[in-house]
Amino acid sequence: MLARGAECHNPFMTTYLITGANRGIGLEFARQLSTRKDSVILATAREPEKAQDLARLVHRVIPLDVADEASIAGLGAQVKEPVDILINNAGVGSDQKSINELTMDELRRVFAVNSFGPLLVAKALLANLRAGGRKTIFNITSQLGSIANNKGGSSYPYRGSKSALNQMAVCLANELRPEGFCCVVAHPGWVKTDMGGQAAPLSPEESVKGLLEIIDRLKPEDSGTFFNYDGKTLPW
Ligand SMILES: NC(=O)c1ccc[n+]([C@@H]2O[C@H](COP(=O)([O-])OP(=O)(O)OC[C@H]3O[C@@H](n4cnc5c(N)ncnc54)[C@H](OP(=O)(O)O)[C@@H]3O)[C@@H](O)[C@H]2O)c1
Repeated sequence: MLARGAECHNPFMTTYLITGANRGIGLEFARQLSTRKDSVILATAREPEKAQDLARLVHRVIPLDVADEASIAGLGAQVKEPVDILINNAGVGSDQKSINELTMDELRRVFAVNSFGPLLVAKALLANLRAGGRKTIFNITSQLGSIANNKGGSSYPYRGSKSALNQMAVCLANELRPEGFCCVVAHPGWVKTDMGGQAAPLSPEESVKGLLEIIDRLKPEDSGTFFNYDGKTLPW
């Protein structure tokens, strides 16, 4: 076990760990945070050797497949320093939309990445987060995971996996509240990325600017909140 005591924590720097940071919203988080002089950025990618743009922006690129328990264990072993803010960003969409198309393999794949991965990454980094100054777990969800807002959509794997992430984030918020943790979920908006497509109205810059404004203002009392990227709250 590493010495993850609070004495290792530099109160003048904020250490972020971003998953799935080699493209899309994750890469934009790295870009915007890299302009802040008080940021230390740890970023993960499934294939770090192909993540050259990311490597130029961050302190370290760590290999991580969030759907693979051994890979998550490897992350826990490689991150020795306190982490202030975990940004659980990695996610996948699904081509399976209607009930007739569904397969167990696809449901497993999407839930593994979007629901189980973020939770187990948080578990693997709990000691690092406890040693950090912000104790923040920021999960990128989707408004498609809102049950209250589902007025007719199917997309079972994606919607279901984001709803599960939301529920487990609230469980985590409840369990860790006595320790001063802040665990939230946030919808980034519909964003122009490989996942969002070119018809999306928001640029990654606009989305991440809003998300970082939320992160900067987060207080322990916000734990268990479902945010929109513009700082408003969304219904569960
Ligand atoms: N774009 C939107 O409109 C939108 C809307 C609502 C929510 N979101 C959420 O926002 C987050 C980021 O999405 P995005 O639009 O930036 O998508 P994206 O451009 O498709 O990027 C997804 C990122 O997740 C990584 N990833 C996928 N599977 C992974 C795994 N098993 N282990 C580790 N990393 C994995 C990808 O890595 P590889 O390059 O290795 O595949 C990539 O870095 C996701 O959680 C998504 O659900 C996006």
